[in-house]
Amino acid sequence: MKLSLSQPTNQTLIKNEVSKFFKTIDPSIPILTETTNSYNVLQAGKFGQTYLSADKTNVVKVINLQPYLSEPASIVPIIIERMTSEVINYHKISEVCPEFFCKFIGYHYDPTEFYVAIKMEYCGKDLIEYYNEDILKNNNNKQHLKNILLQIAKALQCLHTNGYVHFDLKPDNITVSADGTVKLIDAGSLTKINDEQGIVCGTADYMAPELVGKLSVPKNNELKKTDIYSYGILVKNIYANVFNETYLNYILNERPPIEKIISILENNDNNIFNFLGGNKITRRRRYQKRSVRR
Ligand SMILES: Nc1ncnc2c1ncn2[C@@H]1O[C@H](COP(=O)(O)OP(=O)(O)OP(=O)(O)O)[C@@H](O)[C@H]1O
Ligand SMILES: [Mg+2]
Repeated sequence: MKLSLSQPTNQTLIKNEVSKFFKTIDPSIPILTETTNSYNVLQAGKFGQTYLSADKTNVVKVINLQPYLSEPASIVPIIIERMTSEVINYHKISEVCPEFFCKFIGYHYDPTEFYVAIKMEYCGKDLIEYYNEDILKNNNNKQHLKNILLQIAKALQCLHTNGYVHFDLKPDNITVSADGTVKLIDAGSLTKINDEQGIVCGTADYMAPELVGKLSVPKNNELKKTDIYSYGILVKNIYANVFNETYLNYILNERPPIEKIISILENNDNNIFNFLGGNKITRRRRYQKRSVRR
């Protein structure tokens, strides 16, 4: 079939719709203008890369949208959902939870090259690197491990009380700075609890079992419980030998509210410990179900 010139191709349509979305973004969210710093690759991902500035103060995450162009036009809501998380929700959560979520600095959308760049503060090593390098060397320090878990739990509490779930909690998305401050990063899956639409996201090993193979995003407490499950897996994967089985099963099976997890850690309940040392952990890729809830 011959395509008439006035008929937009699938690719043009996708680009136009995404560009339209970027024009509607709240103008108070900072747009990046120039980059004076030089950058080195920090981590290479499937759709993009993160770069660390030479002065190690900030990170730029470049999300290449080009691969979406070979998809059908029905991909548009998925791209928009993803961009909403990465730009709008990221900006919002870094303002309401500055102690617990990485600081968002600004974004840049390039409609020609079809990519988005997001600049944020550098928050330190991710938990994979931190844990594998440092904790194993110092693996008899229960108080230190507990403090990291407490900070992660408090970060989740801040997200949940502000109406968001992280939806992709795992060691790769948690950072620890040189002074031991823990922050969550990666807003790619950040989801508003009360939104009518949402995409089921997560990382296979950390994803709540009720989400596997599902298209619909649960609501309210059920949605918060998916983060608690990921938290439980994280504790189990990293600290399997640190906490006893009863405690690990309690988190994974009961999925108590995050406040309960915080209070157990804060009350210094030594019954939860079973300290034998650590395991080495590995990176896991994010999974995204390509369908939108209606
Ligand atoms: N602000 C930051 N401070 C320190 N390290 C960071 C920061 N942002 C990203 N990183 C590092 O880069 C890695 C990848 O970044 P990020 O998690 O945002 O993207 P991704 O997981 O590749 O993308 P996706 O959203 O597709 O899952 C992180 O696991 C972490 O090691
Ligand atoms: Mg990530």
